Amino acid sequence: MNIPQTLVVYFSHSGNTKRIADKIALAVNADTARIETVIPYSGTPDEISNQGKKEVHSAYKPEIKPLNVNLSDYKRIVIGTPTWWYTMAPAVLTFFSQTDLSDKDVVLYMTNAGWPGHTIKDMQKAAGRANIISTKEILFDSGGGNQMITSEKEIDAWIASWK
Ligand SMILES: Cc1cc2nc3c(=O)[nH]c(=O)nc-3n(C[C@H](O)[C@H](O)[C@H](O)COP(=O)(O)O)c2cc1C
Repeated sequence: MNIPQTLVVYFSHSGNTKRIADKIALAVNADTARIETVIPYSGTPDEISNQGKKEVHSAYKPEIKPLNVNLSDYKRIVIGTPTWWYTMAPAVLTFFSQTDLSDKDVVLYMTNAGWPGHTIKDMQKAAGRANIISTKEILFDSGGGNQMITSEKEIDAWIASWK
C-alpha cells in the first residue's frame, strides 16, 4: 500500500490556495487538510477585507476546527496560505501557533494578488525549528479573481524541485 508521507495543510477563502493544494497533492501523492475557522468569514468582500485587516494588525488568532488528520503520520508538511494584508491569513497563524513542526520537513507557499508583502518571511519565522525545504509565491489576478498568473509550468517545475 502506498501511504502518503506528505500532507498539504492550507487555508483558502476563495479557492486559489486550495487549487494549488490539490495540484500538489496530485503531483506528490499527498493527503490534504483544509484549515477552517470555527466562525466562518462572512459578509461583503469589503467587510471581509476590513475584518482581515483588523485581525492581521492585532495578530489575532481565530479559533480553528481540529484538522481531520494526525500530523504525526507525516514526515513532510506543505503549508499554504492566501496573502492577507501582506502576511499569512490569521487562521494559518493559529495553525502555526498550535503546531510543533520541529521534526518536520516543511514546504511553504502562498498565493497573492500582486502585493506579496512579507508573507513567506513571516511563515518561515512561524515555522520555528522546522526544516524548510522550499518556498513559493504564486500570483493570481489582482481583481480578487481566480485567474492564475503564475504559469502551470512554473508551478510544475517548482514541485519537481522538491518532490
Ligand atoms: C482579507 C484579504 C486581504 C488580502 N490582502 C492581500 C494582500 O495584502 N496582498 C495581496 O497580494 N493579495 C491580498 N489579497 C488577495 C488574496 O491574497 C488572493 O486573492 C489569494 O489568491 C486568495 O486566495 P484564496 O482564494 O485561497 O482565498 C487579500 C484577500 C483578502 C480576502
